[in-house]
Amino acid sequence: MIRLLVSGWWFMRELIRLLADGEFHSGEELGRILGVSRATVWKRLSQLADSTGLSICRVRGKGYRLAWPMLLLEYADLQDLPWPVHLHEVLDSTNAEALRRLALQEGRSSPFLVMAEQQLAGRGRRGRAWISPYGVNLYFSLLLPVESAQRLDGLSLLVGLAMKRGLSACGYPAVGLKWPNDLLLDGRKLGGILLELCGDPADRCHVVIGVGLNINLREGEVSLDQPWTSLALERGRAIARSEILKSVLAALDDVLEQSALTGFAAFRSEWEAAHVWQGRQVVLSSGTRTMSGRVLGVDDHGALRLLCDDGEQLVSGGELSLRLADDT
Ligand code: BTN
Repeated sequence: MIRLLVSGWWFMRELIRLLADGEFHSGEELGRILGVSRATVWKRLSQLADSTGLSICRVRGKGYRLAWPMLLLEYADLQDLPWPVHLHEVLDSTNAEALRRLALQEGRSSPFLVMAEQQLAGRGRRGRAWISPYGVNLYFSLLLPVESAQRLDGLSLLVGLAMKRGLSACGYPAVGLKWPNDLLLDGRKLGGILLELCGDPADRCHVVIGVGLNINLREGEVSLDQPWTSLALERGRAIARSEILKSVLAALDDVLEQSALTGFAAFRSEWEAAHVWQGRQVVLSSGTRTMSGRVLGVDDHGALRLLCDDGEQLVSGGELSLRLADDT
């Protein structure tokens, strides 16, 4: 099932679709196709640039063009996803929207997905913002009821593994994982996962699994506070997002279904094989506390196993940050 929440956006989306090739289109041509005046085209393009931050060039005698070509998400390609999906053009955050929808349903909700073409206040881990420009990457959140607290064991690691499987199936086998839930390519951040809980894990609760994947982000488009990459940078061309989305969601559905029976333990060795910092010397920080050690792997619940001076330590949960010890 697909549910479109794009009221008021049909016109804007058609305008973007006409400009998506990155070539010049005159106001007259755009107006003719859309059945409006040149002045309306100009007004709507200005609104579009204001609301999405899209860079639209206007050159006298040539018309308008997008600064870069764009591959829009094709709604028709998004039928038959594993969960009902609420698609938005612009949101503050898909995680926030999933939690709002849950509140509206008074905490009784079956799984559903929220997706957006752009987030204005995308949330990252440790209070960071997740940069989410219009039509460039994938931003989605899956809301799941949690039947037992055990279901949360290693959940963020399982989601990372599912993303890796889904990307591998699309021809990106080199994607690696960094505990607890970063996706890396060539040592740079390709994607992130943010889990948010609502309710009491010992009783009734829901979890929002938020995923951001850098698909078509380009150098110079944004400035981020950590090394990052995107599939487009890896391939040197723009990447269609629908195929990637379908693949990672299918993998997520599989992993969630299987792990509901087996728990994280059945995925532990696959996760460790994908862990880019396996065996490396790391420093773990949590607030003012730091701990150094060698990464031994993870346990059956997804906790990090560190070999420290005083023996093996298990680390889990919280707002932790992990970096390589030799990373100055
Ligand atoms: C991280 O910091 O590594 C986690 C980033 C998670 C970003 C995604 S984008 C979709 C979802 N909605 C949000 O506001 N955040 C998550």
